[in-house]
Amino acid sequence: MWKIAEVLRRRGGPQPLSRSPMKNPSSPAKKKLVLIGGLGTIGRILEKEFSGSYELTVLDISKPPGQNRRNFVKADVAKINQLMAEIPDDAYALVNLSALPNSTQPSLPDAKTLRLYSDVYIVGAYNILLVAAKKRIRKVVFASTNHVTGAYEVGGKSTLGREIRVDDYPLPDSAYGAMKLCGELFGYLFSRETNLSVICLRIGSVLEDELPVLRSNERVKRTIMSKADTIEIFRKAIETEINYGVYYGVSDNDGKPWDISNTIDDLGFYSKINSQALLEKAKKENQESAFTK
Ligand SMILES: NC(=O)c1ccc[n+]([C@@H]2O[C@H](COP(=O)([O-])OP(=O)(O)OC[C@H]3O[C@@H](n4cnc5c(N)ncnc54)[C@H](O)[C@@H]3O)[C@@H](O)[C@H]2O)c1
Repeated sequence: MWKIAEVLRRRGGPQPLSRSPMKNPSSPAKKKLVLIGGLGTIGRILEKEFSGSYELTVLDISKPPGQNRRNFVKADVAKINQLMAEIPDDAYALVNLSALPNSTQPSLPDAKTLRLYSDVYIVGAYNILLVAAKKRIRKVVFASTNHVTGAYEVGGKSTLGREIRVDDYPLPDSAYGAMKLCGELFGYLFSRETNLSVICLRIGSVLEDELPVLRSNERVKRTIMSKADTIEIFRKAIETEINYGVYYGVSDNDGKPWDISNTIDDLGFYSKINSQALLEKAKKENQESAFTK
């Protein structure tokens, strides 16, 4: 079996960062965080929550709706000169959330679509790491996907007779999953060859409006990472001292297909709200509102 854990163990386990932490608890200055692809679903969730604790820059290829936003910069991850110009030199961490819309992601794209994919998932992922290393930025958090091992999952259930682990040989269910794996491996290379720390999160299902989908989609009941848990896992990934790691990001849902034991052990992730808790909370709120009518 292909063992990430073993490879890392040979290197002495998930390595703590070699550089001393830049964090100074007595300093009032907030760390600078760049949310790349930050206008999307996860970017919006993180921006709302992190704006109090980090100094945020939102970078995206699209323009934000409405009026000019002070913290927004426009750049294409496929264009390294744009990233070099727009990413602050003194950023603490880059969070790579860039992605193409789901609707344009068939399992086996044609040649033209593959070029679009590779601009974001291959060239873009590499450019972000390269810019981080050149600017001596401390960390990249890479939003990878559960589709890296999608071949082991059907309808939100593992086909392995146990939860799918990060050390199962990665077999994707799509070109998207294959390219995200490439992004994880680029991250490994940079963490090995430079001082950059790279944390890869294989995200389950993150939704802005959770309840309607949860109620109607059996897979999502198992694969959801609630907004609360999304915020928690990204915060842990940004703040960890580990040099490189790959982690499934999913709430502790009944019957979830992925193992999060290393997410808990290495990152200290604690799933606070799973799908059952979300549904129960909504049920209670419905009952209370019916009672007060
Ligand atoms: N939401 C989920 O359930 C989920 C599940 C698994 C993995 N992920 C991964 O997490 C990340 C964030 O997901 P999301 O749901 O917020 O995605 P999203 O599609 O909502 O947002 C992606 C953002 O990337 C931007 N973008 C696209 N091309 C770009 C480019 N060339 N340069 C700069 N920005 C570009 C888009 O404009 C968009 O704002 C993605 O990388 C996705 O693959 C998400």
